Amino acid sequence: MKVKSPQGLADSDVHCRLVVVLHGPNLNLLGERPAEHYGSLTLAELNALITEEAERLGWQCLCFQTNHEGVYIDWIHEFRRAGAMIVNPGAWTHYSYAIHDALELVACPVAEVHLSDIETREEWRRRSVITPVVDLVISGKGPWGYVEALRRVVAMAEGNATPG
Ligand code: DQA
Repeated sequence: MKVKSPQGLADSDVHCRLVVVLHGPNLNLLGERPAEHYGSLTLAELNALITEEAERLGWQCLCFQTNHEGVYIDWIHEFRRAGAMIVNPGAWTHYSYAIHDALELVACPVAEVHLSDIETREEWRRRSVITPVVDLVISGKGPWGYVEALRRVVAMAEGNATPG
C-alpha cells in the first residue's frame, strides 16, 4: 500500500487497509458550533478518536476537512479506491448532487455520518441527497457515530458484515 499526500495518489493504487474520513464545511469549527447539536469536541479531538479506533483495528486513517466543495469532490475521486470511506458533507448533504455523483464512483464501503440527528432538526436538513449512494448512515450519535461507522465500514471491507 502506498499512501502519499492527498494530491499524490495514483489511480491504479489500491489502498486496502486505509480508511479516509472527509469532513465538509464548518466542521473545522467544531467546539465553537452549537453544542446542543454538535457537542464540545474539536475537530482535532474527533479525528484523534477516529484514528485511534482505526489503528486499534489495524487500519491506517487519514482525516481531511475543507470548506470548498470542489476540493471535497477531488478527494472523493482521489480516494475512491481506499479500503473504506466515511463522509460528513455538512450542509452539502442536503443539496449537493455533485457529491452524490462523485460518491457513486467510490468502490469501497462508504458511511455517511452526522453528529446531530438530521431527522429531527429543520425541514431542509431532513433530506440527504447522498444517502442513496452510501452503504450506511449514522446520525445523531455525536462523535461515537464516527467510531461506530468506522467499525462497520471496516467490517464490510473485511467481508464480515452486510450493509444496513
Ligand atoms: C451535520 C448536519 C448538517 O445539517 C449541518 O449542515 C452540518 C453538520 C452534522 O454533522 O450533524 O454542518 O452534517
